[in-house]
Amino acid sequence: MNLPHVEFSCSLDRVRHLLRMRHGLDVSCYSESFLAQTIETRRQVTAGETLADYLDQLAENPAEAEEFADSLRISYSKFFRNPITFALLEQWILPSFLREAEKNGPSEIRVWSAGCAAGQEAYSIAILLDQMTVVSGKPLPYRIFGTDWSEACLALARNAVYSTEAVENVRWRQLREYFVGQGSSMAIASKLRTRVDFSLYDLLDKDASVPPASIYGGFNLVFCSNVLLYYRPEKQRFILDRLWRSLASGGFLVTDETERQIVESAGGFDNVAMPTALFQKNFSSHG
Ligand SMILES: C[S@@+](CC[C@H](N)C(=O)[O-])C[C@H]1O[C@@H](n2cnc3c(N)ncnc32)[C@H](O)[C@@H]1O
Repeated sequence: MNLPHVEFSCSLDRVRHLLRMRHGLDVSCYSESFLAQTIETRRQVTAGETLADYLDQLAENPAEAEEFADSLRISYSKFFRNPITFALLEQWILPSFLREAEKNGPSEIRVWSAGCAAGQEAYSIAILLDQMTVVSGKPLPYRIFGTDWSEACLALARNAVYSTEAVENVRWRQLREYFVGQGSSMAIASKLRTRVDFSLYDLLDKDASVPPASIYGGFNLVFCSNVLLYYRPEKQRFILDRLWRSLASGGFLVTDETERQIVESAGGFDNVAMPTALFQKNFSSHG
């Protein structure tokens, strides 16, 4: 649907206003493009002929407002979702943690998957850390925290049973070592489950700067991928500032490649492996 910008901005204002007034839903944190895309998808699904038809439906039908809100909660994920980034972590970043530990004595490696969905990202990094510990023969203490604002996602993460599609990037040896078949699904082996701590945490919560379960920040590696892109610029900066503060000096941040520009323009991070979205915390450009 190609609408003049002014008309479209008015429609977005109307959607935000009516969802708040009639249904108590606040969608003001989301980016305009994400809201616009969701409106258009819902218009097509509900067979609304025009934007105005759909907005009338949204105003009058609480069930549609609920459907609309549901469409904003995107929780798609898979193991090793971006294989190149995970290859860099496996071959470069994680071994550098090990070398650091050998030089300065073992200290706990702390990883945070922020917006962890059903835990696919957190378990992917747990697999790599466990493999590295086994291969090196040196015990390396590590803790992985997975957080999400959705209890439903966290319940799935703790249950740790996945479709074959979710594990299609997992290597055969990793599947054998870290998963057990459960009917047509794959369940995470118990030795890996205990390595990840899942808890409820809203990245936009003004009162909790790090996940309470993690006690304090000091993370060596933080994932926040496929989260920033849904938010409007002030909220993206708020989240990035929070992640920056949660990282230990020299710590790394991973986002999705589609979010690279958001991180670059916020400052505070150096892109260390173009064209991936692997960043290292810096002190020079953080405002
Ligand atoms: C599209 S999934 C991405 C999952 C995973 N990071 C990945 O890249 O595959 C986005 C996840 O972020 C969560 N999320 C979105 N906004 C959040 C917020 N403000 N606080 C915590 N979690 C959030 C959603 O519930 C969802 O599970």
